[in-house]
Amino acid sequence: MQPVAGEPGALPQSLPRHVAIIMDGNGRWAKARGLPRFEGHRRGVEAVRRTVRAATELGIEALTIYSFSSENWSRPATEIADLMGLLKRFIRNDLATLHEQNVAVRVIGERPEHDAEISALLDEAEQLTRGNAGLKLTVAFNYGARNEIARAARRLAEDVKAGRLQPADITPERLGDALDTAGLPPLDLVIRTSGEQRLSNFLLWQAAYAELVFLPVLWPDFDRAALEEALAEYGRRERRFGGVDAAGR
Ligand code: IPE
Ligand code: IPE
Ligand code: MG
Repeated sequence: MQPVAGEPGALPQSLPRHVAIIMDGNGRWAKARGLPRFEGHRRGVEAVRRTVRAATELGIEALTIYSFSSENWSRPATEIADLMGLLKRFIRNDLATLHEQNVAVRVIGERPEHDAEISALLDEAEQLTRGNAGLKLTVAFNYGARNEIARAARRLAEDVKAGRLQPADITPERLGDALDTAGLPPLDLVIRTSGEQRLSNFLLWQAAYAELVFLPVLWPDFDRAALEEALAEYGRRERRFGGVDAAGR
């Protein structure tokens, strides 16, 4: 039977090209079970695996996931070490599978200078999968949107200083092309789990006209059904981009 648009579980006819996810709620998931926060993060990695697979199966072109913010360094050192350990383990264990799935991995944010091992693994993931034509998986790591915009502005300022660019050439398009996300399709949908309703310094520029969907589910419980729920909600939204609707209203 064909799914009916608007019913639970039905996929919208207009599938977003680029979905970004703020994967939140690992700590609360663990706390609710009397487990250490680490256990929530560990189960969160399994949710990442499920989500990448589901996004590939559903034919989403680009998926961008918030894995560690530039503000997350303010967490206790033990939790930071746990998160770094999980990221390293994820790349070591899953890179070959991602490559088999034809996923092209890209990492946005500032490369952490003090962790050569992580830097090398992130480079390896990008280099191995660069030519893949499947899902564009972008991992935001040590990422903050204000930092990204400031770095882009700095790059353009260097071009002006060197005489390669005129100040009048600095347009939204040119600034967008100087961001870490250059070349990705426009951001259509931002999903945040755990019920929090804020962007927490994620893709502030790119989200200008994205639809925002906030789900109560905690990240370790996220699965294909939750993704489909967000896609169905996206399908019910009317995107106007400052104009009027299709009927001219
Ligand atoms: C998201 O879960 C993972 C990261 C931010 C790295 P949290 O660790 O923020 O979980 P809560 O918000 O405390 O439940
Ligand atoms: C945002 O979640 C960062 C990631 C999901 C990686 P946080 O849990 O750090 O955000 P706040 O502190 O609740 O805004
Ligand atoms: Mg959180």
